[in-house]
Amino acid sequence: MTSTKNVSLADLDLFEHGNPWAAFDELRTNAPVHWDEEDAPNHGFWSLTRYHDIVGVLRDTETFSSERATVNLEELDEEQIEARKSMLETDGIRHRALRRLMQGEFTPRAVAGYETFLRGLTATTLDAAFAKGEFDFVADVAADFPIRVLARMLDVPDADIYKLIEWGNRMVGNTDPEHADVLAHSEESEQYRLLPFRSPAALEVFEYGRHLAAERRGKDGTDLVSRLVNQVPEDGIPLSERDFNSYFLLLVVAGNETTRHSITHSMRYLMENPDQLALLKEKPELIPWAIEEFLRLASPVFHFRRTATHDTEINGQPIREGDKVVTWFASGNRDPELFPDPYRMDVTRTPNEHMAFGRGGPHMCLGNSLARLEIRIMFENLLPRITGMTALAEPDHLRSNFINGIKRFPVRVELA
Ligand code: HEM
Repeated sequence: MTSTKNVSLADLDLFEHGNPWAAFDELRTNAPVHWDEEDAPNHGFWSLTRYHDIVGVLRDTETFSSERATVNLEELDEEQIEARKSMLETDGIRHRALRRLMQGEFTPRAVAGYETFLRGLTATTLDAAFAKGEFDFVADVAADFPIRVLARMLDVPDADIYKLIEWGNRMVGNTDPEHADVLAHSEESEQYRLLPFRSPAALEVFEYGRHLAAERRGKDGTDLVSRLVNQVPEDGIPLSERDFNSYFLLLVVAGNETTRHSITHSMRYLMENPDQLALLKEKPELIPWAIEEFLRLASPVFHFRRTATHDTEINGQPIREGDKVVTWFASGNRDPELFPDPYRMDVTRTPNEHMAFGRGGPHMCLGNSLARLEIRIMFENLLPRITGMTALAEPDHLRSNFINGIKRFPVRVELA
């Protein structure tokens, strides 16, 4: 058994090689509130790996704030916090007011309106990929799909889709040399310190959003940008330029990578569990439940972070004001206390109260119904068309301990 002293979830090598699971298990069992050292200028953080501890922190927003800092590991000064604050980094009444601006667009009922569009899109995507026989599942199936839906919700032209994907890759992949033009830990990123993800891509996203906002302000459009620029939040405080920029950027980034990786991970798990694939082909009515197991196993967001607002304790471990407390959703999703035999894929698992979208706190994923719909429709279309799929190489993992991403996954399809 490795000593918990040697485990550091700050170590990106662990994630790039696709196997942080042994480290999560080790911490969950032996050190559920574990101090992880980090390289300077960071100061280290508390890692929470048990499901109930994570839920406790997400719920207790008085003690564990989102707005004292950022929700990732980077440590920010006051100027950066102020410049980069998004809905995710806001607590209390203002957070609720910002969230309500878009809530109506993401209810199960509202997103059901995209179902026909999604079915058409899935069919076209699969036709093109399957015609090749061998293809990269990420590029040819999973990558464009979520962003095309978002492009429709934002009402932007299809021609801009690759720009949106590239921006997302550059920002979310800011610790992966293949995706980042400026690596988050590099000296060069210092000039971008006031931007989300310390990425110059954010400037391009802001510019693009500003242009759309100017076009749509004062008009009666029903797309997400029109809704954003033509409403005042319920607390009566209008969106500042920063509020609009960060909201727009969050919409562009949040639903894109996460859903893409969910689809790819789910396919991979089905390929590794042919009995589960066969079961879903035989009983497609199970697919809506299977989605929950897909999401549990995929856990596309490894972590978010909160900051302690005063001295406190978790499970008897003293925590000091200002300490970073990291909630590892991916570990909570494999906590055997909640999920018996957690590494087994069981598409009929009930209950399945996973925390892929967070759990119990006010920031619980706004787009969860949309993501569920996209994944469901993808597999309702895909599964009847295949008898199997074979990996032609191991998947290539994103070098990140934030997003559990797969960059490439070459496969061969066996058509039904
Ligand atoms: C499988 C796909 C997705 C996963 C795994 C995911 C995961 C998450 C997680 C873990 C959070 C933070 C929860 C917390 O701190 O309690 C979050 C927040 C958020 N997500 Fe998602 N997400 C997904 C898809 C989407 C989609 C499609 C959208 C919409 C475009 C979206 C929009 C958001 C927004 C706006 C927030 C911030 C909510 C707030 O601060 O109140 N997400 N998501």
